[in-house]
Amino acid sequence: MPAIEVVLGDITAEDVDAIVTAANESLLGCGGVDGAIHRAAGPRLARAGGALAPCDAGDAVATPAFDLDPPVRHVIHTVGPVWEGGGHGEADTLASCYRRSLAVADEVGARSVAFPAIATGVYGFPPEQAATIAISTISATPTQVERVRLVAFDEATYQLLTTAAQG
Ligand code: APR
Repeated sequence: MPAIEVVLGDITAEDVDAIVTAANESLLGCGGVDGAIHRAAGPRLARAGGALAPCDAGDAVATPAFDLDPPVRHVIHTVGPVWEGGGHGEADTLASCYRRSLAVADEVGARSVAFPAIATGVYGFPPEQAATIAISTISATPTQVERVRLVAFDEATYQLLTTAAQG
């Protein structure tokens, strides 16, 4: 089981092998954390992502990190569920985002991975439930990844992730 750290900050500044972006199925980049990562990685990220699209909700694919500073070598694009009230399998889809992202990290040999709070922004997933899903899924997924950093962009998300990580 990977060591899980909860931090407050900007995921584009993380010193890990791979950072995960909360994408949409086009993998072309848009707003939120996806926009920040695409701005930092440069236009080649959208070209590489677009070549692999569409990416289903709950799935994940890896591309190079292009202009992102070392040691980041990979961007793992995952597509979260749009929150529709909780009765459409949203929780399972979000869990799949974390599970598939770890599987893709294993495929590319990444040993340290940073995640944003997937689906809790534009997609409207309740952040407290999302934090519990993130911690429980990462803790239960067999992986070679040794270090996972959950990067909160605001204090409220940081507190929720910290509480969830403390079990
Ligand atoms: N670093 C870390 N976290 C960030 C950053 C950043 N630079 N910028 C935003 N976040 C946080 C948000 O505060 C939120 O907690 O990432 C979390 C996910 O929010 P979104 O980026 O809105 O992602 P999501 O809710 O999954 O919606 C995805 O938004 O940008 C589009 O293309 C994307 O269509 C897709 C949708």
